[in-house]
Amino acid sequence: MKMLQVGLGDRSYPIYMAPGLLDQAGMYCRSALPRAEKIFVVTDSNVAPLYLDALTGSLRAAGFRTACRVVPAGESAKRPELLFRLWEDMAAARLTRTDAVAALGGGVVGDLAGFAAATFLRGVDLVQLPTTLLAQVDSSVGGKVAVDLPAGKNLAGAFWQPRLVLMDTDTLSTLEDRTFSDGMAEVIKYGCIRDEGFFRLLEAHPGRRAVMEHIEEVLYTCCGLKRDVVEKDERDTGERMILNFGHTLGHAYERAGRYETWTHGQAVSAGMVLAARLGAALGVTPPETAGEIRALATAFGLPAAIDCSQEDYAAAIGLDKKGAGEDITLVLLARLGKAILHKLPKAELLSLLAAEEHR
Ligand code: GLY
Repeated sequence: MKMLQVGLGDRSYPIYMAPGLLDQAGMYCRSALPRAEKIFVVTDSNVAPLYLDALTGSLRAAGFRTACRVVPAGESAKRPELLFRLWEDMAAARLTRTDAVAALGGGVVGDLAGFAAATFLRGVDLVQLPTTLLAQVDSSVGGKVAVDLPAGKNLAGAFWQPRLVLMDTDTLSTLEDRTFSDGMAEVIKYGCIRDEGFFRLLEAHPGRRAVMEHIEEVLYTCCGLKRDVVEKDERDTGERMILNFGHTLGHAYERAGRYETWTHGQAVSAGMVLAARLGAALGVTPPETAGEIRALATAFGLPAAIDCSQEDYAAAIGLDKKGAGEDITLVLLARLGKAILHKLPKAELLSLLAAEEHR
């Protein structure tokens, strides 16, 4: 069992990582939510048949009453209509300010249920029970919750820290390889931006089975790195932006594939390799770094490049919430293990992207 504490004053919370935690969720929730009587569980149609009974059984054994909503699996669940339905369900279940919402699933469920918790009755407590690698190393920690709008992903949301994060590593065994790889892109990202030693450890364990043998250590390292960044910049106005390494270009790839062809992790993987190539072209990143990221991504079945039109790059850059005015702030690597923020005109970035396409 590994444990980390996110230190945010009266919004601090623990993260536990171990096999079999869902069966003990009631006990952990009892200690994190001493006043709660009812827990409203949100999960999706893939996760419910696998883990919902274990969770609700454990919560009931610890004296909680439970209510549940199973949403359709997939990104399309992160829409305002389903948020509205969750609010109605929570009202029907007579959830009070001292009760709580539990998000059991991947990033979509965590974001949707988290935003419902942030807004229902002006905010009720939230427990994150992430079941995918991506949700465990990224979205369940740090308090970002949101739904998508037709104009773009995550455009309506909040910062709403959970009271508790429980990562049952057994849930990773039921993931498809593609979904596991999706999470590995974010795992590799942490090595790139903050910890070269961790990057080298991943190089020495190339593949799902080898990583799973060290999964608690991997989760602990990733969540520890994220915790350090979030504690310094909870509301994403400075250092937290380094967590978006590979994501600006990744948005272009997700968009180019109409959010269907490429998973988030696949897009981020190709985005990280290209960001390293751009960094080299700008004289910021050592020339060999892009090849090192490419090799590690490929070892985990992730793409190192994705075809994308200039229109998709331009649209992704223009829509990016992190870009301000005509300049954009890109996350680049000064070296493996050290990310920096680099501001440049959007027009210059587009020309660099065009030049890279022809190399
Ligand atoms: N996933 C990026 C962040 O939490 O800031």
